[in-house]
Amino acid sequence: MSKIVILTGAGISAESGLGTFRDEGGLWAQHRIEDVATPEGFARDPDLVHDFYNARRQQAATAQPNAAHIALARLERDYAGDVVIVTQNVDSLHEAAGSTAVLHMHGRLNSALCYGCGHRWDAPPEMGLGTPCPACGAAKTRPDVVWFGEIPYFMEEIAHHLAAATVFASIGTSGQVYPAANFVQEARAFGAATVELNLEPSEISRAFDTRRFGPATEVVPDWVHSLLA
Ligand code: APR
Repeated sequence: MSKIVILTGAGISAESGLGTFRDEGGLWAQHRIEDVATPEGFARDPDLVHDFYNARRQQAATAQPNAAHIALARLERDYAGDVVIVTQNVDSLHEAAGSTAVLHMHGRLNSALCYGCGHRWDAPPEMGLGTPCPACGAAKTRPDVVWFGEIPYFMEEIAHHLAAATVFASIGTSGQVYPAANFVQEARAFGAATVELNLEPSEISRAFDTRRFGPATEVVPDWVHSLLA
């Protein structure tokens, strides 16, 4: 059974109006990573961190999946083999487009986490440190996202998928953050054919067998069409 493993990054959601991190004027040009995307930043100022994620959650709540997300959902539905999306994104646009096999390795904006008891629940639109945990009642609520210095989710499951991949695609990521940036090497080592679909060359472009450059809403539907033809 052939298996397509697809890594997605912020670039696939750019045309849905959600900002990327490292493009001109991106999120890391507006906010310091150490303030809003590290455990130390959260310990120092939890309100600042919650404000940052509350704003992104509000924005993501009104964003619509674009032609790239929709094409990947069609691929999962119509492809004869297995299709798995491993996303670095914390928005839920893959699910909104209809994809069901989606692993959020950096967590999700729509999930809240109690760092007291480990309980996860659907995040309210606005949350703060004092939002009581529905399980233990503690006021130890954090965004259920993976910060720099923390271990991404689903790493064991992702390793199994990469080992079984016949095709590995990377869509809309600058390839600057590990371990995701190394997935292409892992998939290649197991014999997968690799393709990068991105607006422009990334840090890891030369690791791929083939590359398709352009906006995701153009290159992803074309790529999916070529797989289903
Ligand atoms: N279509 C396709 N690709 C695009 C588009 C588009 N319309 N717009 C931008 N891109 C590409 C950019 O060229 C860039 O290579 O998307 C990539 C976005 O890169 P980053 O902003 O670095 O985002 P990403 O690679 O997802 O970041 C990875 O870093 O900060 C952490 O946790 C955060 O998950 C994030 C991780």
